[in-house]
Amino acid sequence: MKIKTEISASQDHEHNIRGKPLGDLIRNHSFVETLFLLFRGNMPNKAEEDLLNALLVSAAEHDIEAPSLFVPRISTSVGNPPQAALAAGILSIGPSHGGAGWEAARLLAGPETPQEIVTRFLKEHAPIPGYGHRIYKDADPRVSVIEEKIRVSGVSGTHFDRARAIEKELATQKGKHIPLNIDGAFAACVLDLGFAPETALELFILARIAGMSAHINEERQQHNPYYRLENGSL
Ligand code: COA
Repeated sequence: MKIKTEISASQDHEHNIRGKPLGDLIRNHSFVETLFLLFRGNMPNKAEEDLLNALLVSAAEHDIEAPSLFVPRISTSVGNPPQAALAAGILSIGPSHGGAGWEAARLLAGPETPQEIVTRFLKEHAPIPGYGHRIYKDADPRVSVIEEKIRVSGVSGTHFDRARAIEKELATQKGKHIPLNIDGAFAACVLDLGFAPETALELFILARIAGMSAHINEERQQHNPYYRLENGSL
């Protein structure tokens, strides 16, 4: 059976991504532009390229205390090769850490009003994906910078506005401020850039792999013995 794809094709040793020769992409275009071509199917304008670049920077690293950054180091310290340590890091991403973007994007792209979303989640005693943080209780500092970026970019911020409306409604119904977090802001921008909802998680992971890889390299260079918990802590 032949796998059908509209992403790429090769003929006479020339490889094309969405009809653009790879040689042209290598010569004249950025990695971020190539991501648009791969995921959205067409090239971005400058503002869109800048916004996705900013999103990828925001997700690349976030301190060794984050599971997706210390887990790859632990996997490296026991002697695993980089691909295994990266896989371990990716598997440490989940709904509570870095992995809420897909579900947040589905909500933001869906038909429910902010009021209906908040009412439904509070009734089910379930956390709304994209809100709340283990350490940032007032505001996730990455979110305000991303918001600055989208507001000046000229990219329509319809989904970002909706994300803020849900935050406001959550504060009203819960009687407590629970901030929009990086996963929620990332998801809103990904939708505003015209990507499919699930892309929010894939692009987050892609960016975080850069941070994971840097930690894996540093861990390997340090030649640490493997870590053991002592009295429950590292
Ligand atoms: N939706 C609704 N209520 C939420 C909430 C959310 N996303 N996040 C926290 N709350 C509520 C808690 O249930 C708690 O309510 P209570 O006072 O009635 O018990 C209150 O807000 C305070 O919770 P807090 O202690 O600040 O959260 P936490 O540190 O236990 O949990 C998370 C942090 C990230 C695990 C949690 O906010 C969450 O699951 N968020 C959704 C998933 C997500 O976006 N993950 C990506 C994080 S970057």
